[in-house]
Amino acid sequence: MKLWGGRFSSKEHERMEQFNTSLPVDNRLIEQDIAGSLAHVAMLVHCDLLTPEEGELLINGLEEIQNDIASGQLLVEGNYEDVHSFVEVQLTERIGETGKKLHTARSRNDQVAVDMRLYAKAKAKEVSGLLQNLMDSLAAKGQANDVIMPGYTHLQRAQVITFSHHIGAYVQMFSRDKKRIENAAELMDENPLGCGALAGTTHEIDRDVTTALLHFAKPVDNYIDGVSDRDYLLELMSDFSIIMMHLSRLSEELILWSSQEFKFVTMSDAFSTGSSIMPQKKNPDAAELIRGKTGRVYGSLFALLTTLKGLPLAYNKDMQEDKEQFFDAVDTVIDCIDIMSSMIDTMQVNAEQMRSAVKAGFLNATEVADYLVSKGTPFRDAHSIVGRLIIYCEQEKKGIEELSIAELKNFSNSLDDDLYAYIDYDEILNKGTKKFMKAGY
Ligand code: ARG
Repeated sequence: MKLWGGRFSSKEHERMEQFNTSLPVDNRLIEQDIAGSLAHVAMLVHCDLLTPEEGELLINGLEEIQNDIASGQLLVEGNYEDVHSFVEVQLTERIGETGKKLHTARSRNDQVAVDMRLYAKAKAKEVSGLLQNLMDSLAAKGQANDVIMPGYTHLQRAQVITFSHHIGAYVQMFSRDKKRIENAAELMDENPLGCGALAGTTHEIDRDVTTALLHFAKPVDNYIDGVSDRDYLLELMSDFSIIMMHLSRLSEELILWSSQEFKFVTMSDAFSTGSSIMPQKKNPDAAELIRGKTGRVYGSLFALLTTLKGLPLAYNKDMQEDKEQFFDAVDTVIDCIDIMSSMIDTMQVNAEQMRSAVKAGFLNATEVADYLVSKGTPFRDAHSIVGRLIIYCEQEKKGIEELSIAELKNFSNSLDDDLYAYIDYDEILNKGTKKFMKAGY
């Protein structure tokens, strides 16, 4: 069942056969492989390289294989070198001699290149749609919970913010990720079919025909590049890595927030698990898995970068390694985006807990300084006055807003009754550029 037996006088070693076969991995390209072959046959007929009768026979045979796979009658497995060999051997078994004409003016090098581009284009679209769902879930959760919470720097309570503004930061990240994916999809939108093994073909084929049939924007400009280029996989995997990094940061926050120390959110039981020994435990496993799987996607990117770095042009069998890495990375990123959307949809935001954390953290200290500035104190002096005020509050175990005017006057004469309204946590968000946070983004 080899496509290349002619030049060989002895059989391939069994171990070599197992080592060489890519079918268990590239069988998922079956749909793209048949689509590529259907377009190729139509083009060969168009260019008078096959008769219309031969074309019909080949197309019927390919469609029959397609249907048998769809109905589960035919499994894409067995002793074949790869998905391309599988289709060609199946076809010839079904339609006889004409099947052997399928590979006219084509190499597996341009065939695998077109299969992967079609597959990567479809997956890019899927990822971009899932990112939109995630953005919608995040925005909806933010809008439904336009409440105050502590904002952090160095993981220390810093200033009052809104939950919707915090969650809105992730909406921005995922919207950039979506643009990156769409940009990569546009850049890769070139048809490598017709490049042959590396040097085109002596047949008068028409690459514009397959380009139109397979919905590519244009044929590639250079045959050698067409069969050697795996940039588009690296680019998508770089984008996937950035998505995973964003998902991992969000996961980390959800893990922290759902801890007893924060209690800012409660994750749904549906996305948590328990402990086999500690009955009280409810663990945020889904978020932890996303954080953990981030390393795996970075690993796939680096594996393929490393595989490609020393390869001479044009095709080398090393490149077969692209598939396991890309498939694992794309499966992982798709799962993680999807799970994250459901986790966000089902999570409960504990507004009261966030509000008490705001009150306990002197999150209006900057605004006391701003108040003093509005009364004419230079900012640096105001900063120092409020610093001393905080030491006093810590000693007295009181919030700034809980001090009496008499106590406040010990620190600055400019501190008056109107301070209380100025540093009220909900009022703060109605001032200056902070008004913007109320809108969520
Ligand atoms: N299984 C191969 C791959 O994934 C297909 C291309 C084989 N081409 C060749 N000249 N052996 O890269």
